[in-house]
Amino acid sequence: MTISRTQLEALRQAAIDASRNAWCPYSRFPVGAAVLATDGRIFSGCNVENASFGLTVCAERNAIGQAISAGCREFQTLLIFTATQQATAPCGACRQVITEFAPNLDIISVCDGSDCLQMTMRDLLPHSFGPHNLENASSLSE
Ligand code: THU
Repeated sequence: MTISRTQLEALRQAAIDASRNAWCPYSRFPVGAAVLATDGRIFSGCNVENASFGLTVCAERNAIGQAISAGCREFQTLLIFTATQQATAPCGACRQVITEFAPNLDIISVCDGSDCLQMTMRDLLPHSFGPHNLENASSLSE
């Protein structure tokens, strides 16, 4: 992992700050995520729940969405913060969204306790379905 201590601390702080804005009245499980782009920019997001539970969007997907909306598509590290004693890995839906842009992304998960997870997207979603699967697809009309 080629991330500096300063970048790591900036990511951690951005994820913690985002988690404070989490809208999670149903789960009471605030999550913050911050992604470091290859150009050094940091984008963050929190989970946004909905009374129609299935519409909840996770912190990781919101952080990636912020980056994409700003025209940023290349990432080096994603950091997740949960206000728990154990670090949390991203859910399956987030893994799929992350892999669209960054199939080799480094992922760090931290929490209120000393537990910490270090993962890569390759660990989390091997044999993934992605944009490459849509290349050279034979058309139905052929
Ligand atoms: N959540 C995230 O934000 N990221 C994950 O990777 C796992 C789950 C949120 C969704 C929901 O608001 C709450 O945590 C409980 O599942």
